[in-house]
Order: sequence, then structure tokens, then C-alpha cells
Amino acid sequence: MEKKRVAITTLGCKVNQVEGEAVAGLFRCHGYEVVDFAEPADVYVINTCTVTHLGDRKSRQLIRRARRSNPQAVVAVMGCYAQKAPQEVAALGVDVVIGTSGRERLVELVEEARREKKGIVAVTSPTAEFEELPHIPEGRTRAFIKVQDGCDHFCTYCIVPYVRGPVRSRRPERVVAEARTLIEKGFKEIVLTGIHIGAYGRDFPAGEKIKDLADLMEQLLQIPGRWRLRLSSVEPVDVNFRLVDVMAGSEKVCPHLHLPLQSGDDAILEKMGRGYTTVEFLRLTEYIRSRIPDIALTTDIIVGFPGETEDHFRRTLAFVERVGFSQMHVFKYSPRAGTPAATFPAQVDARRKEERSRILRELGEKLAAHYARRFLGREMEVLFEEPPAPGVGEGLTGNYLRVRVETPDNLAGTFASVVLEEYRDGIVLGRLKNFAAEEERKKERK
Ligand code: 5AD
Ligand code: SF4
Repeated sequence: MEKKRVAITTLGCKVNQVEGEAVAGLFRCHGYEVVDFAEPADVYVINTCTVTHLGDRKSRQLIRRARRSNPQAVVAVMGCYAQKAPQEVAALGVDVVIGTSGRERLVELVEEARREKKGIVAVTSPTAEFEELPHIPEGRTRAFIKVQDGCDHFCTYCIVPYVRGPVRSRRPERVVAEARTLIEKGFKEIVLTGIHIGAYGRDFPAGEKIKDLADLMEQLLQIPGRWRLRLSSVEPVDVNFRLVDVMAGSEKVCPHLHLPLQSGDDAILEKMGRGYTTVEFLRLTEYIRSRIPDIALTTDIIVGFPGETEDHFRRTLAFVERVGFSQMHVFKYSPRAGTPAATFPAQVDARRKEERSRILRELGEKLAAHYARRFLGREMEVLFEEPPAPGVGEGLTGNYLRVRVETPDNLAGTFASVVLEEYRDGIVLGRLKNFAAEEERKKERK
């Protein structure tokens, strides 16, 4: 019998991607072939996002596209947008709707929908415990491990705590076991991800040996071998001396922290409910840099939060320049129904948001170039990924510089020393240390 084909596509964050890959694995276990979303399939799965209205819109577009591709197919929708608006999703002609939990039942529900030719909406409130899903990452270089789900912070703009539920941490034994397996398989970088990883362990009962993210990292760092550990986004309020100690204390930890700032103005930060002031944030970054001098600090900023005036925005520009982030993700504020900020007065019009976003992105590029240029002339370790083109090698340094070299070899999954030479359009061009030496030798021989 021919294998049934499933096409899966994921929007949104890394956590969503990990979950999408896990669901792909579940379908494979049930004998399905996983195909590209553009190919004809018997089942389409759209793993949705709702962090801004763009997530909703893209989710709806993909659902319609799947429906059109094969009217006979079963279309299943999961993830944050489905969690938020299950009926809206079902009304688009979707056969199975689940949300941000109960994913291990998806294959079963899809088969039930196909057999009985009926629609199923099975969205429940997010589970009380961390949901274990078997996960085999794609590729062979970097693997993302989900260590935590949910958020209790309730920033006034954010829908995520409503759709992802409260903080649930994954058992440390499971995280360590997964990391061990991946490293044994040859993965060279482990990235810890979650919705709010700085809150890791907060839901564990008192008296546990591993209580927080720093403890978890220490456990992981005992895994031998040549590999490195990276953290994804950590909320500024969750960075403490212990965490910085663990980061500074091991060569294995990438000198990189993504600290979402959101605004560089105190009045706006207060209205966002972020829990810190710009002075506190600045002190934090100064302390981190005193311990890890070359660290890459990256961030998220929202422009056009309700009440944001030109003055507020100018203060944000000045502040991000002062901190000197090496990369910035800029989001245009999107009112999310049900969050406090959606009803705040003085909503900012679309044109202003667009303009501020453009200005901030330009500044982001300038700061990225400035940071990268500090490292030109130095020799740095690059972890190579799948080559983007024949004869070209590309990868990341620990401090998140994207580096490209010329090389006849496929270096995917290996570390190599590169002399950084030139920064161009977001990429550092360099020379492979050993390759360069080899070329020199060849010339001498001639
Ligand atoms: N509008 C715009 N951006 C948002 N983010 C979260 N909620 C919203 C919203 N309502 C951004 C924040 C967060 C990132 C993942 O998404 O910057 O850090
Ligand atoms: Fe999007 Fe947030 Fe859900 Fe990730 S957690 S998919 S960013 S809404």
C-alpha cells in the first residue's frame, strides 16, 4: 500500500518549530511520509502563531491554500492561533482543530476525521504539566530543545500567556537525556528554548536538586564532547548573578544573550508591565559585559505601543544605541483582543508604526555592523551548517556572527577556525585558517 502523505508547515517562534518537528515525527511513526507543504498531500497540518495580527493572517492564508491544494485532504490546524480562535479556524473548512496541548493525539484525530468524514474541534485549556513529545530535530548541526512552556508574566501587550498557559518546566532528566542523545548523534550545538526559559523550574516542588535555568545548564555542561550550549530569549528580570556565573564559567556556553527590551522609555516600560527601568536594564548589561566582554546582546523592540510619542521613540533610539545591541528584532505593536493594552488610549496609527519600524531597523543594521567590525582581523571558531551553495561554507560563531568562507569541502556539522576579514550586508566574510595555510603551501610548492 502506498504511504499516506502529510505536509506540515509552522509559523512563529522556535518553540512552535520544535513542536512542528515533533508532530512530523508522530506522523512518521504512524507510517506517513512527510512531504513539503507545496506538494500534494493527503493531510495538511498548519501549526499557527498569533503573537501579532500577522500571525493570524498568515495562518488563515496557509489554511486556505491547503484547502485549495487538495479539497479531499484532511486539513488539521494546531498551535497558538487555533488555541485562541478555534471556531474561527473551524469555519475556514478545517477538519481537525487542536491548540497548544494534546498534540500526541493529532494523528488519531486526523484518522478519525477522515474515516468518519466529520470535523473535530479538540481545543482544551493548556495542560497542567509539561507535555512530553518525542522530538527528532532536522539537520545535523544545531538542535533546539524545548525545556519549558507557558508564561505567567502577562505583559500588557502579550497574548502568549493566554494561549500557552502557565509556566510548566520539563523534567531535567528528560532534558539532559535528550541533549545527550543529540550530542551522541553528532549535533554540535544545543539551543535551550521555551516560551519563558528564565522561569525554568519555578513550578517544581520545593527541595528539588535542579531549581532553575542555571542549575539545568550546569547539569548539561557535564555532558562531554566538543559541543556548545546556547540560550534563546531570557527575560531581563530573570537574569541573575548565578546565571551569568554559569555562562561566564564555561567555554561551552555561547557568549550570546537575547534580552528582550521592548522599549527604551521608562513610561512605556511601565505601561507594558515589564518590571524594570532603563537604568536597571543598562546596569544589567554592564554587569554581563564586565563578566563576558565580547558577548553578543540581542533584543526585541516593539514600536508604536499605545501612547508612544515621538519623544518616547527617540529615547528608545538613544537607549538601544547606548546598549549597543548586536541584533534587533523590531515588531510593530499589534493590539491583541483580550489583553489590557488593546484598550489603552492613544493607539498609534499604522503609518507612524511603519516609519518608526523602518528607522529602528536601520539603526539595528548600523549597530550590527558596528558590533561585527570589532571582530575583524580575529580568528574565531565557526560551527558550519549545510552549505548555502557549492564552494561556500557558512555558519555561526558563538557570539552569533554569521560567517561565510570559500571552501571546496562540505563542513556541515564541524567547527573550524576562521580569520574574519570583512563585514558585508549582515555577513562576515572570512578565510578558513587551515584552508588558508593549505593554499599558502600549494603556492610555495609551485
Ligand atoms: N505586538 C507586537 N509585538 C509583540 N510581541 C509580543 N506581543 C506583541 C504585540 N501584541 C513581540 C515582543 C516579543 C516578541 C516575541 O513578540 O517583542 O518579545
Ligand atoms: Fe507565536 Fe508566541 Fe505562539 Fe510562539 S508562543 S507561536 S511566538 S504566539
